[in-house]
Order: sequence, then structure tokens, then C-alpha cells
Amino acid sequence: MQPSVTSKESVYPNPLLANFVFRCIGCGSVAQAAGQDFRCSQCGNLVEVTNPLWESSAIDSAALKAAWRGRKSSNSAPDLSGVWRFRELLPAPSSEQVIVTLREGNTPLYTLLRAARTMGVQHLYAKHQGLNPTGSFKDTGMTMAATFARQAGYRWVACASTGNTSASMAAYAARGGMRSLVLVPEGKISWSKLSQALDYGALTCQLRTDFDGCLRLLQELVRSAPVYQLNSLNPFRIEGQKTLAYELLEQFEWQPPDHIIVPGGNLGNSSAIGKGLLEMRQVGLIAKLPRLSVIQAEGANALVRTLREGGKRLVSVKAETRATAIRIGSPASWEKAIKVLNATGGIVEEVSEIEIAQAKAEIGAEGIGCEPASAVTLAGLKKLLRRGFVKKDEMVVLVLTGNLLKDPDFTMEFHRGELFSENAQLNVYRHRPVVLDASLKAVIQTLEQAEKSSTT
Ligand code: F0G
Repeated sequence: MQPSVTSKESVYPNPLLANFVFRCIGCGSVAQAAGQDFRCSQCGNLVEVTNPLWESSAIDSAALKAAWRGRKSSNSAPDLSGVWRFRELLPAPSSEQVIVTLREGNTPLYTLLRAARTMGVQHLYAKHQGLNPTGSFKDTGMTMAATFARQAGYRWVACASTGNTSASMAAYAARGGMRSLVLVPEGKISWSKLSQALDYGALTCQLRTDFDGCLRLLQELVRSAPVYQLNSLNPFRIEGQKTLAYELLEQFEWQPPDHIIVPGGNLGNSSAIGKGLLEMRQVGLIAKLPRLSVIQAEGANALVRTLREGGKRLVSVKAETRATAIRIGSPASWEKAIKVLNATGGIVEEVSEIEIAQAKAEIGAEGIGCEPASAVTLAGLKKLLRRGFVKKDEMVVLVLTGNLLKDPDFTMEFHRGELFSENAQLNVYRHRPVVLDASLKAVIQTLEQAEKSSTT
């Protein structure tokens, strides 16, 4: 049986598409419904959403590709979403009206010409998820999970967050007519992200703990109060985020790149992209899998340590990094991430704070910019090249997960020379602001000095 793929017709409700189940990633048992904690009732592992259709070769992949592209020129809200236009491989809500969308996804794929030249790499791209409606990749997962929260009739949705999830959740909850509860570590998230949650009307609690403490508390809360959790433990988040893989491959005319490199925090995003890639190969949309690799900050390297010790049990760390988005010591989706690393042949790497700061400045100097957590991808690529895991003639995609404007404190401290001031090597990447008298002479002198010391 083939799904309907014509862009003109509305596919909701469609019993074929709506037919998804929850499957445990540990013991494989299948259930029609999931508990509040999204854990298997048999073995306690996380569940994922699946549909036999997404693993079937009966899909007409050429028709799918044409329909997905065609929807971009439609005027209907789900078609204009870079998530819902891929609906044949997603769980379907009961009706089109229930969908909560801010026209997420459809983000640009940029070439990184300068960085490629510096590293001697031939084909380097950045997929910029920071250009989503609330400035991070979270929106692609949130449109899906908020939709199912709304469909289930929840009044309250909740998350623990290092900032981006809360900003995204608050926005989608507001659009979907729900209240949102945010648990964030006090003093450890950027003001930009916190201010988004406030503006979108979330009840925002700054807890005196770290992200891991916030997530633990949320797990207890969902067991004792009728709130729906929208962390990436929620398998619908993963379904939305997996569409990055479809969109990226579409941008490459379905010719897979050799490598996709993502930052790792709670490890939902790497799991999601990997799930998307594997399902695409199963239904015949692509023939070859890109290798998916995960980069962590040295100070928040739980996955690196876990794999170093055999990968059978999670090795938690006390996380510390200025890349606050990934300041996470006990990543919830570690087993899902290990599965997709193994399935795609990717690896994990860690990078230092100084390497992150330099890479962020280099991405900024391309006229693109990103937040610190996203810059781990470029810093990590340098290491993967040195290790010989990535070859210079291979095609590489970095997933930039958050917008430059998400963490202006980091950017200002860096360029003013206040961050890692002892490190002279970083000075060539700093662009200090200059305070001058308001005179033509002063500005011209500064311009001439800049031209003399210019390296480009
Ligand atoms: N990059 C950014 C900008 C993030 O905000 C996050 C996670 C990650 C990377 C890591 O993704 O957790 O799926 O491995 N931020 C979460 C939050 C935890 O609460 O905003 P991950």
C-alpha cells in the first residue's frame, strides 16, 4: 500500500498515516499508548514512536520526493512547515486543525568557504537550525510534541531546559492555547533564552540546581501532576527533529554527504537525526548512510566517557562549560545516541573551551554566526580531520543548532578580550569595539589602522 502524496489534498485524518505505535528501544516491546515518563512498562527503557510504513519498501520514494518539494509552493500552514510537509513519515494527528506550527524548518544550508579553505577541506556546509522561529532546532520537535499535547487535551506542558527548549516550548504552548511550566538552572542559562520564555508567557522557575537536577525534578512532577513533558524524552520531539535529515538530503538532491556532525547535550537531537537517516534508507529514499558524529564540550563529556568505558552504562559527569546549552552531565537519550552512532559508523569527540570560542568566532566571520554550543561542531571537525576519521575530500555538514543572538554575553566577552584573555592566539579572532570621539578624523585614522593590520 502506498500513502497518498498529492500536495493538493488534505491527508488528515488518514488511518494509514495515523497508525503509529510506541516501541521500547531496549526490549522492543510495542504498546498503543505511552506513560507520562515515556518509559517502557516492561524494562524501563525509553520508547520511540514508529509505524510499520516507515520501515517498508512499499513506499514510492520518487512520488514522496516530488510531493514534499511541491508542498513548499502551497499556502496551507502544514505544507509551509518544514516538518509537516514530510508527513508521510511522521505520526499523524487526528486533524489538520490541531497542528501547532510557527512555520518551522526549511532552514538554509550554507557553504563555509573560509573555514573550508583554512582546513583544506573541499566540501563544507552548515545546516543552520538557529534560523528557526525561536532561534534553535528545538522548534522542529516542538511543533510535533505540542500538537500531540494539544490533541490529548493537556492544559499544562512542562520542560527542564538549558534555555532553548524552554523558549521553544513556551512559544508553541502559547500558539496552541496551553500553559507552560519551565524549570531552568538558576544563573546558568543566557538571558536571551530566559527572556523568550517570559515573553511567550511561561511560568518560569529558576531552580537552585543544574540542568540534570531540573530534569530529575520534572520526572517526579509528571508522575504526580497532569502536566505533559516536552523534553526530548518525549518521542514526538524526536519525530519532529528527525525531519532535519529529510530536509538536508532534499537540499543535496538526495545524494548523501559523507559526514554529519552535531553537538551533543541531552542527546535527543543526534538520536533524532540518526532515526531519520535510518528510516530514509529503509524506505529507499537514500542508498547510503552519512556517518553521524557527536561532539561534546570537554567539561560535559558524558557520552565520550561512557563510550570510553564500553558504552554499557552511562558515566555521568558534573557538567561545566560556557557553552551553557550543552551543560548536561547525565544525558537522557544516551542509549538512543549510541545506537545511531553505531548504525551510521559515526564517532564521538570532545573539544576544549578555547577551541569552542575560536570556532564560534570563525563561524561568525563567515557572516553566519551561531551560539557556543553549535560551534563545537567546527571545533570537533578539526579534530576528526587530525584523527583521519574525516578525509579532506569528503563532504561534511555541520549542524548549527542555535542562533548567534542566543548568547550575546559570550560573544561580547570574547570580542572585548574578557574571555580567555590569557590566550594570545585567540586575539586574531577578536573584533574589539572601539570607543572614539565623534570626529571624522578619529574615524578615518581608525579605518586606516584597520586596513594596515588587515589580514584579508
Ligand atoms: N545545541 C543547542 C543550541 C542546544 O540548545 C542543545 C540542547 C544542544 C545543542 C544539544 O542537543 O540535547 O539534543 O543533544 N539544549 C537543550 C535545552 C538541552 O534545554 O535547550 P541535545
